[in-house]
Amino acid sequence: MIEEALRQAVAARKKDHIALARHSKRPEKNDFDKIFLVRPTLPETAPNPENSECDFFGFRIAAPFFINAMTGGIEEGDSINRSLCKVSEESQIPMAFGSASLVELNPDALGGFIEARKLTNQPVLVNINANTDIKTVKLLIKSLDPIALQIHVNAVQELVMPEGNKDWMWKEKIESIRNAAGIPVIVKEVGFGFDVASIMALAEMGIEAVDVSGKGGTNFCDIENCRREKGDFSYLSECGFSTVQSLLNARFAHELLSLPEKEGISLPDVIASGGVRNPLDVLKSLALGAKWVGISGAFLSTLLGSGEDALMEEIKEWKEQFSGLISLYGQTSTDSCKDIAWICDEELESYARQMARLVSPGEV
Ligand code: FNR
Repeated sequence: MIEEALRQAVAARKKDHIALARHSKRPEKNDFDKIFLVRPTLPETAPNPENSECDFFGFRIAAPFFINAMTGGIEEGDSINRSLCKVSEESQIPMAFGSASLVELNPDALGGFIEARKLTNQPVLVNINANTDIKTVKLLIKSLDPIALQIHVNAVQELVMPEGNKDWMWKEKIESIRNAAGIPVIVKEVGFGFDVASIMALAEMGIEAVDVSGKGGTNFCDIENCRREKGDFSYLSECGFSTVQSLLNARFAHELLSLPEKEGISLPDVIASGGVRNPLDVLKSLALGAKWVGISGAFLSTLLGSGEDALMEEIKEWKEQFSGLISLYGQTSTDSCKDIAWICDEELESYARQMARLVSPGEV
């Protein structure tokens, strides 16, 4: 009886998320606008679609961006995932399923994920919360054959969510899941970004990748706040780090990991997501050190507003434009985009100075 009520609550929440995210206004301006890439006036390059290709956990994909985690396990979510898988196959980019932890409560929900999975030969990511039991994790991996596992860490969302889980003792659980998974693990925020210490902690655990998913796009404080009947949390709306700040935090973590006492510990691969609006934001993310870039809300809006073909067309356009941008900024491959020089505005510069003072006191 209690389990049935829980199942219904999860299904209702997933429906709400789709409806609210679809209609929520993502900010037009965000911290990507504070980054300026240095463009060579004589680039000495020529656009070539192959220059966008890259490796994704050992799989060759068409461009360094992918459809990030959103939904699944309810009828509407499974239908969205089928469309996203078709788009992934056509566009030759990866896609991530939304949280599949509900399979623990409702094993029948697995079928919808499996049906969608059959529609793409591209790499997929399976997404869970850190409290998911190991048996379910193994079942999901066996059934959906993901190239990597995303574990979402979403304290702000859980705090504001009316029925949210307030147990955020995650590190040991993440470690156990990683030990059992047998595939690379990505630890992922959902729109509030990552601080330096948490990135360091995941590096020390040997986690393969961190998806910083920062502030600047879909806002789950606003979304959960809309679902509350009483008690307003709108003052937390601006909480957390933007995606750009989080990428800078990852750079600080990288610096700290070069200290002699951290020998042998390396920075996880960094994924940028949260408020990525266009191919230039993708390029800026790579220049700031990200290896790949995830997009959720913007692609969902296109899919639900204009349909599957429109999303395919949009991603085709992104790929072409991105390939042009690589050349425009004097590069010939996605790997070398990390060498693009950048400058930032005073506000971000001041943020970086203050953060440097916090993480290495005395040196600044
Ligand atoms: C999400 N997101 C998300 N993340 C996650 O790790 N597990 C999940 O189940 C979901 N569910 C979900 C539903 C919907 C409708 C949206 C729009 C998003 C968060 C998502 O992956 C991403 O981190 C944030 O949306 C920020 O990226 P964008 O939307 O600004 O590109």
